[in-house]
Order: sequence, then structure tokens, then C-alpha cells
Amino acid sequence: MAKEKILVIGASGQIGVELTMALRKIYGNQNVIASDLREQNSLLEGTGPYVSLDVMNKEMLHVQVIRQNITQIYLLAAILSATGEKNPNLAWHLNMQGLLNVLDIAREEKLSKVYWPSSIAVFGPTSPKLNCPQQTIIEPSTVYGISKYAGEFWCNYYHQRYGVDVRSLRYPGLISYKSAPGGGTTDYAIEIFHAALEEKKYKCFLEADTYLPMMYMPDAIRATLELMEAPSNKISIRTSYNIAGMSFSPEEIAASIQQEIPDFEISYKPDSRQNIANSWPQSIDDTVAYNDWGWKPEFDLDKMTKDMLVNLK
Ligand code: NAD
Ligand code: SER
Repeated sequence: MAKEKILVIGASGQIGVELTMALRKIYGNQNVIASDLREQNSLLEGTGPYVSLDVMNKEMLHVQVIRQNITQIYLLAAILSATGEKNPNLAWHLNMQGLLNVLDIAREEKLSKVYWPSSIAVFGPTSPKLNCPQQTIIEPSTVYGISKYAGEFWCNYYHQRYGVDVRSLRYPGLISYKSAPGGGTTDYAIEIFHAALEEKKYKCFLEADTYLPMMYMPDAIRATLELMEAPSNKISIRTSYNIAGMSFSPEEIAASIQQEIPDFEISYKPDSRQNIANSWPQSIDDTVAYNDWGWKPEFDLDKMTKDMLVNLK
């Protein structure tokens, strides 16, 4: 097998930190180069190479890919749903041009693989709410969702037309304790754990009964690695795969936390993020990912709650 050299773009973010550490375990510290616009996350310090990089600067990105003999890129730089609604032009620009820069360089330099995540945000108010299937009505209503859906088709296009082996997952809301979330609608499900431990109370920006698809970070990292390691002939979806972990509402996660911290209290003050949440499905059907490359989540709500609280303490 040819030696892989991996560039992670957006490595200082919520997923980037954990994915970089997981990739370093598999491919060796020196073979996974972390990069970001902002400074290196402290958890990555001393664990391997880091370069400061703006994915929008295609020339510099191309130079790094050639100079470092990069064979794979994991592109995680993006603006998420809630931040995207505050600055739609910037979100569109970064989420689209960043991806096109990476796909072009992957084609020119014949990279072996590219990873780029999509999101459950591709689905909109007209998509089925329960067990939303892989292929269905998709009419996103946020700029983030529009950019992810367009991005999925660019991935498919570069695969069909130029043979770029680009793979993608539609992540649900991701919950983690190592690095902070970056401005999404599902961030409440992380804030709530910090508030429960620090103040024993939390004011939620979504209503009590807002169900959303969610996943614990260890499952998301494993899904990413399993997808990327799957033989090419097992990948039937070249837009982006639905994957599911769990589905819960704010009142359900609060009840799960109360099993561990009985005097924890939750109150509700919905803001503009409620409209975004209302436009998304409540749960996801990931049968195609299961059939193609065997995807199965390990964490349910209570198992995740226990693990989050133990680790945050
Ligand atoms: P994040 O905001 O935590 O991290 C993104 C990182 O990209 C940040 O460290 C940021 O500094 C960096 N970045 C921004 N602009 C850049 C640029 N021009 N050049 C280089 N780096 C830049 O986001 P995340 O939660 O880690 O998400 C990573 C990817 O996964 C995104 O594509 C996101 O849409 C997708 N996703 C995340 C979730 C989730 O719940 N976290 C769910 C679905 C999909
Ligand atoms: N967690 C992400 C968000 O809320 C979903 O892509 O934006």
C-alpha cells in the first residue's frame, strides 16, 4: 500500500481535533498534518505537524499539497447553520469555494481520497420528519443547508467526471467534550452538559419537544474512518450518506442528565435557532450506509450522558 500523507483542513474545530488525533493513531503522527485559519488547538500541540492555512487561498493550499506530498485531504472548514444565518454570503462563499478549491487540487494532483462532511441540514421543511430516507424531497431553507446540498452534487460531479474518490457523510448534530462546537443549532446538547456540571441549571434556546438527529463524537469519528477505509466498490453514494446515531429532545436529554444529577433544572427560551431546528427532520434512516459499509452506532442517549459527565468532570 502506498504511504498516505493526510492534510486535515479545519483541524482546530470541534470535529477536526478528534479526527486529527484518530488519524494520527492510524497513519502515524508525522503523516497527518493539521491545518486551520486559527491557532492550533491546545489538545493537538506536540502531537504532530501543524500549518496555518486558509482554504480560500487556493494557491497556498496547492503549494502545501505539493510541498508536503499530500495524498488525502479531510476538509472540515465551514460555517455552520446558526452562524451562517447571520452572514449568508460568507457562509456560501467559504462552504462552496473551499470545497471547489480542494476538489480541483485533488483532481490535478491525483489525490487518493478526499473527505468532506455534509449535514442533516440538507433536509428542509418538506422532507419527511421521521426516519428521513437517503433519497427524498430535499429543499433546504438555511444557507448552510443549501451550501451542503450543492456541495454534495459537486462531490458527485468530481467523482463521475474526473474520478476523484471523494466521500461524504451527512452528520447529525455532534456532541463532544474535547473541543467546543462552532456555531450550530444542535450546540445546545453540548452546552447543557457544561451548565449541568457548573450551575445545575440550563436555559435552552430550543423548545422542550424539539426532536433532532444527534450523534456522540466517538461514533462520528468511527463512521468517518469506516467510510474512508471501505473499498471503493462498496460506496454506492457519491453525494453524501445519511448516518444516524440517536434522536432526542431537550426535555429528554435533561431527563437523562437528571438521572445522574437529580437537582439539575432546565428552562426554555427559544430564539431564531428554533426555526432552523423546525426545518430539519427529527430522525434519519441510515439503511443505505448500513447495507453498503456496515454502519452501526454504539451510543444511545443514556450511554452518551454518562460518558459526557464522567469526562467533563
Ligand atoms: P467548527 O466550526 O468547530 O470547525 C471548523 C474549523 O474550520 C474551525 O477551526 C475554523 O477556524 C476553521 N476554518 C474556518 N474558515 C477557515 C478557512 N478559510 N481556512 C481554514 N480553516 C478555516 O466546525 P465542526 O463542527 O468541526 O464541523 C466540521 C465540518 O463538519 C463542517 O463541514 C460542518 O459543516 C460539518 N458538520 C458538523 C456538525 C456538528 O455537529 N459539529 C454536524 C454536521 C456537519
Ligand atoms: N450541528 C450542525 C448545526 O447545527 C448540523 O450540521 O449546524
